[in-house]
Amino acid sequence: MTRPEESGGAVAVVSGGSRGLGRLVVERLLGEGWRVAAFSRSTNAFVEDTLAAHPDRFWWQSVDLADPRRTRDFASGAAKRFGRIDLLLNNAGLLGRQELLLTTAVSRTQELIAANLTGPIVLTQACAKVMARQNSGTILNVSSVNAVRGYRGAAVYAAAKAGLDGFSRSLARELGPLGIRVNSIVPGYFESDMTTVVTDESRERIRRRTPLGRLADMEEIVDAISFLVSPRSSFITGQTLIVDGGITC
Ligand SMILES: NC(=O)c1ccc[n+]([C@@H]2O[C@H](COP(=O)([O-])OP(=O)(O)OC[C@H]3O[C@@H](n4cnc5c(N)ncnc54)[C@H](OP(=O)(O)O)[C@@H]3O)[C@@H](O)[C@H]2O)c1
Repeated sequence: MTRPEESGGAVAVVSGGSRGLGRLVVERLLGEGWRVAAFSRSTNAFVEDTLAAHPDRFWWQSVDLADPRRTRDFASGAAKRFGRIDLLLNNAGLLGRQELLLTTAVSRTQELIAANLTGPIVLTQACAKVMARQNSGTILNVSSVNAVRGYRGAAVYAAAKAGLDGFSRSLARELGPLGIRVNSIVPGYFESDMTTVVTDESRERIRRRTPLGRLADMEEIVDAISFLVSPRSSFITGQTLIVDGGITC
């Protein structure tokens, strides 16, 4: 992700930094000298071990993206603790079990929209205010192949992720003049707690439909994230990068 030049290390805010993709990004950022503020709803052994190993460079709080006040407070807490915010990775997401729209409760719809769209928007607004004062920053939203292609049983999740992509494009226009880049990344399927709900039959179908014939390795997604948040992509904004082995082509 390119070694940060800020004194004390550049600062990243990572939502959902406790498990899966977010955890791997946190590990890579810390390994490259960044200071990292991460949150999720619950802690785990990774969070506790990392807090102990990097007390000056890793900060974690329990925050639910469905709570706008806690989400905003987290962003201002990160800026207060580390003095700046150079990167926001809107990684946290919620899929849950697949469910047809005809039987989806309104409360479930609200939960999915809050975690996958409203929460990231609230967090982005709070972090972008800090970045605007610095006249620099990078925002990367983690979307999904479900935003690009239809998937039975994931209509609300897909709507939220497609909304996030539209948000990235319009925000890139607003924040570009302030030196802030905004992009989306669309990962293909990779093994994580989120995909434990995918049946073996669906997993096989995904493999068959993917030109490269397999699911993504999480490291491959982190490599693409690394590019999009580094100076190597300094003229890229308002874009959606699909990293899916070709399943949507
Ligand atoms: N896995 C895939 O195949 C795949 C494919 C395409 C896109 N994606 C996207 O990639 C991102 C990472 O996915 P993943 O597979 O790594 O997911 P994961 O293993 O389920 O991890 C999700 C992370 O987000 C946190 N989180 C979930 N809901 C939250 C909430 N309401 N507030 C705060 N934190 C919350 C979780 O911690 P807590 O539960 O403790 O809060 C966890 O740290 C997501 O945006 C997902 O939609 C995944």
